Amino acid sequence: MTPIRPDGVIGRDHARVDGIDKVTGRARYGADEPVAGTAFACLATAAIARGRILDIDDRAARRVRGVLVILTHRNVGDAIRPGTWMLDKGHMATAIAPLASDAVHFAGQIVAVAVAESFEAAREAAALLRFEYRSEPHAATFGSPGAEEVEPRAMGETALAAGEPEAALAAAPVRIDTEYATPAQHHNPLELFQATCAWDGDTLTVWESSQNVRGYQHGLARQLGLRPKQVRVVSQVVGGAFGSRGELGQATAIVALAARRLRRPVKLVASRRDAFTIRSFRAETRHRVQLAAARDGRLLALCHDSRELGSRSEHFALAGSDSTARLYACPNVRTGVRGVAADRQTPGFMRAPPETPYLFALECAMDELAWALDIDPLELRRRNDTMVDPVHQLPYTSRSLVRCIDAGAAEFGWARRDPRPGSMREGEEVVGFGYATAFYPTQVGPADCRVALAPDLRARVEVGTHEIGTGIRTVIAQTVADRLGIAIEAVEVAIGDSDLPAAPLSAGSSSTASVCSAVALACEALRARIGKAATAARNAPLHGLEPAALRLGDGRVHIGDASEPLAEAVRRACRGRPMVEKATHTPHGAPPVIGPVLVRRGLPVIAGGSMLRDRLQFAFGAQFVEVRIDRATGRIRIPRMTGAFAAGRIVNPRTARSQLMGGQVWGASAALWEATEIDPRSGRYANCDLAEYLLPTHADIGRVDTLMLDEEDTRVNPLGIKGVGELGVTGMNAAVANAVFHATGLRVRTLPIRLDALL
Ligand code: MOS
Repeated sequence: MTPIRPDGVIGRDHARVDGIDKVTGRARYGADEPVAGTAFACLATAAIARGRILDIDDRAARRVRGVLVILTHRNVGDAIRPGTWMLDKGHMATAIAPLASDAVHFAGQIVAVAVAESFEAAREAAALLRFEYRSEPHAATFGSPGAEEVEPRAMGETALAAGEPEAALAAAPVRIDTEYATPAQHHNPLELFQATCAWDGDTLTVWESSQNVRGYQHGLARQLGLRPKQVRVVSQVVGGAFGSRGELGQATAIVALAARRLRRPVKLVASRRDAFTIRSFRAETRHRVQLAAARDGRLLALCHDSRELGSRSEHFALAGSDSTARLYACPNVRTGVRGVAADRQTPGFMRAPPETPYLFALECAMDELAWALDIDPLELRRRNDTMVDPVHQLPYTSRSLVRCIDAGAAEFGWARRDPRPGSMREGEEVVGFGYATAFYPTQVGPADCRVALAPDLRARVEVGTHEIGTGIRTVIAQTVADRLGIAIEAVEVAIGDSDLPAAPLSAGSSSTASVCSAVALACEALRARIGKAATAARNAPLHGLEPAALRLGDGRVHIGDASEPLAEAVRRACRGRPMVEKATHTPHGAPPVIGPVLVRRGLPVIAGGSMLRDRLQFAFGAQFVEVRIDRATGRIRIPRMTGAFAAGRIVNPRTARSQLMGGQVWGASAALWEATEIDPRSGRYANCDLAEYLLPTHADIGRVDTLMLDEEDTRVNPLGIKGVGELGVTGMNAAVANAVFHATGLRVRTLPIRLDALL
């Protein structure tokens, strides 16, 4: 891997190239695609958590004017084939086939779809469907009878071991042994889940907001018995994804089947309530953390045992201790992850899926250890900083945690903190300062791309990645502009279409690194052609010079002191038509299964963090937060937070800052507000709307400072990009909990922290 040194457009603040389209309504989100003659679908979902459908009375529903078809297991059955679950080398959020049988696996499972001439008629018909069930006993929570402990399927390692942790725990002078709990959380992107399906003969086009158009294409082909070529999935912009649109859900194939049977396009926009059960979500977790330390703060042992509440159909677990156990120097390590299977839909991914719950446990425990040792929490992290993985002794490619701590502490004013809990009072409020470490794996997936450069210095880049809100079009355009020496405005970016060259699913904070690496490689090939033509041409200023020394800038091609206009050089290299280069970037050091062939089939093959053979690659940050708690009422406020992050090369500081800041806010949300409440008696969620699923409003979030530290890492990928999509959310929940302890002396180990915990 040869590092690529940017010429200046990469790394520069730039407004989003699609910003105007987004704020003026020109950008087309999934349901915005104007498709003529569309019928509308509405879902009906199961009211019981486990059992059978004995009967469906659809007489009233059929009488609704404009109803076209009502799909249930009786008329779908095996018309939709079972898909394959993502971790079984598939594309689906669950392997349970939609509307396949009378079995109900969880409350909120899709049990019928009404399709009508209008959305209103479809909704009315769906509401009039009457189901007769035979309920079976269900388990909905950790403690429910029938909830079954299982060996989980996880992305990472579920059991790490180094040294002799039990002996070290027994012998250590200072020990912490505490338990933590995090709740279920549900995706509430502004853009609801939707799909529009239209057939043209035997080929299907789907407009659906997605993080993985290739995955949807191949998954749907399999479900519907088509060749992948017969399916095209388009997703131009996404109104919030965060893991909710990476796996193919159950609804899309039903919509496609309805469209085929009706011989007209069908559009589904699922309700906010449906969003809680038709997609994956963040699982509830439990943790026991045992830490042992010497009196000087050096960690001697770290044991982290976790349980995650999952489904019976897929025993999914995040296994975040695969990462968190590597965060600090420690000679004796043990982790264990167990699954608990319940009658729930299969959980999955939500922004920093493993780190959000697992770092909460570890970073709260580190704070408890700092308190037990009477060492400043920042100093405790400094003393346990490491450049080596404590489990496998692999090196970190780069690690700027201590720099982040120092910069963040200075900006935040950590020195003003009086360490005694409850000691900082102002009027009716008690003030707490909290800290936690942020970190997130640097992940990269293989990507194909195609870049065309025309004689008029306009470029078109094609890559099947996704705009999930991060500003990916902008960083791609910057990469092309930088590497080809042309204006950003002259770069056309084609993304969000399964017909385009394959890019990995946009997840794991990997897209900028994956896609810009491929684009940069294609541009290197174009630069080489420009250089070759410029140095080969007789009577040209660069004739005979060394093409490898070429630089582009100021609209000119430079080699040493000689130069000529870029337009001249490109015209010469183009010979009257656009120059086209295709490139594939494959992450180095990843297991061989992480190959481009799999990405072309839409499979989730991104790797990094602790999953590499020869190194660890992570981005780091330091989260600082101030809480103010009303002494009479216990009301908790967060007037300010400071995050300092180092994530390799930042391609666009403006869009990167938005990602990090959004993460900080979401972390605060996880700490104080966000949780899905489940009624264990019915197995149903109790707060499936934005009135009762609590999220912070603008008034809840005070000042947010987001610092980005320079960091050069030449080993992660050619441009040294680590990714920022998920880093900002990590650790934030723990920082708030630690601040609450500092304010009150109360350790709240269960999220979210609501004021009743402080009474
Ligand atoms: Mo993200 S939870 O990897 O989409």
